[in-house]
Amino acid sequence: MIMEMTIKRKIRWNPIFKPVNECRKRYRVLKGSAGSGKSVNIAQDYIKKLSDPRYEGANLLVVRKVEETNRDSTFAELEAAINRMFGDYAPKVWRITRNPLQMECLITGNRIIFRGMSDARQREKVKSITFKRGKLTWIWVEEATELAEQDIDILDDRLRGELPNPNLYYQITLTFNPVSATHWIKGKYFDVVHPDIFTHHSTYLDNRFIDEAYHRRMMLRKERDPEGYRVYGLGEWGELGGLILTNYEVCDFDTSFPCFDRMTYGQDFGFNHANAILTVGFKDDEIFICDEIYVYEKDTSEVIQLAEQKGLSKKIIMYCDSAEPDRIKMWRQAGYRAYPVKKEPGSVKAQIDWLKQHKIYIHPRCVNTIKEIQQWKWKKDERTNTYVDEPVEFLDDAMAALRYSIEGMRRGPSVSILK
Ligand SMILES: Nc1ncnc2c1ncn2[C@@H]1O[C@H](COP(=O)(O)OP(=O)(O)OP(=O)(O)O)[C@@H](O)[C@H]1O
Ligand SMILES: [Mg+2]
Repeated sequence: MIMEMTIKRKIRWNPIFKPVNECRKRYRVLKGSAGSGKSVNIAQDYIKKLSDPRYEGANLLVVRKVEETNRDSTFAELEAAINRMFGDYAPKVWRITRNPLQMECLITGNRIIFRGMSDARQREKVKSITFKRGKLTWIWVEEATELAEQDIDILDDRLRGELPNPNLYYQITLTFNPVSATHWIKGKYFDVVHPDIFTHHSTYLDNRFIDEAYHRRMMLRKERDPEGYRVYGLGEWGELGGLILTNYEVCDFDTSFPCFDRMTYGQDFGFNHANAILTVGFKDDEIFICDEIYVYEKDTSEVIQLAEQKGLSKKIIMYCDSAEPDRIKMWRQAGYRAYPVKKEPGSVKAQIDWLKQHKIYIHPRCVNTIKEIQQWKWKKDERTNTYVDEPVEFLDDAMAALRYSIEGMRRGPSVSILK
């Protein structure tokens, strides 16, 4: 009773997802633009169902390619849904554990667990999942385009056997941005008609809760990066070609200072664009992106405050965009070793060349950096349909911060900064 009242009061839904939430087909496949509301909707849908005694015996496995990336995405989304849905009652209805990530509904006994599929060990771990109560009934694969088709087949295999309750059903939900028309997901679920497959399409224009600033950013993208807008603005199948960096890996690693030969910060200033600061470590010719600050519409003093809260060191050199001397001055006045990076014709290209020659590791907490690097592309000449030697100037703020952060390594600390 308490539950129904709180659900009605707190939670809001985007109508476009109504058929998604009512669907009981085995494969529920949601493609959509960035910001269309997919993740929030699926998180709310699962929390609602798993808290409902009618679905007693159901359990949810949440999968992303890299296990740790769940923490700041799916786990955070599900936790936010619990808080919105139950308000002050939340701790009475759901028990949430962070190490390992896990959620248990205290009304139904239903659970949510989180896994990755990035190596053989993790795939084996998925095969041996069992639950104390009920069965594994539902799987949510977030950013499903990161997974191989075989990974989905392994997951699919887990959903079998008799179910303990007639209201239950097996279902895999995939959510993703349609990065490439050649992706196996298109062939497997969209180019066929099958009674077990439900496909869905949504864009940020269908999301009632998206803010004005987001619309403005999308319009800017339409102008600067028409190809990216098709995928991330309209949710249409795109092309995979033209990516600038592919020599990176998202993985968990120790980010403490002594692990590296050297550390730097790179900062790209922004207000309407993101203001991005990356903490970068260097060890044996490899690059480690340890942490990020990534905020919109904050002025310099607010960003400095964030840096203070995060404990950014005042001993480490911070390489900054040279176009904004006033902001650099403010950082210096706050005690940081902020320097403008020397820019010369061709330096962007040279920085990219250098980055390509070094393996880059990204800590899973750097969610915005990961998003950017996955879509940082060369511009395309629409006439000749070929890529040119210049990056698309959109969603490239963490990438600019990364380019600056390496300057001391690439050119030597004193050559890289303006005196
Ligand atoms: N039902 C909802 N109630 C309140 N806010 C919502 C709701 N759905 C979406 N939003 C708002 O819209 C934003 C974007 O939604 P969401 O993150 O679900 O998009 P997405 O489709 O998963 O995007 P991406 O493809 O980039 O992952 C959310 O951060 C939230 O602010
Ligand atoms: Mg999402």
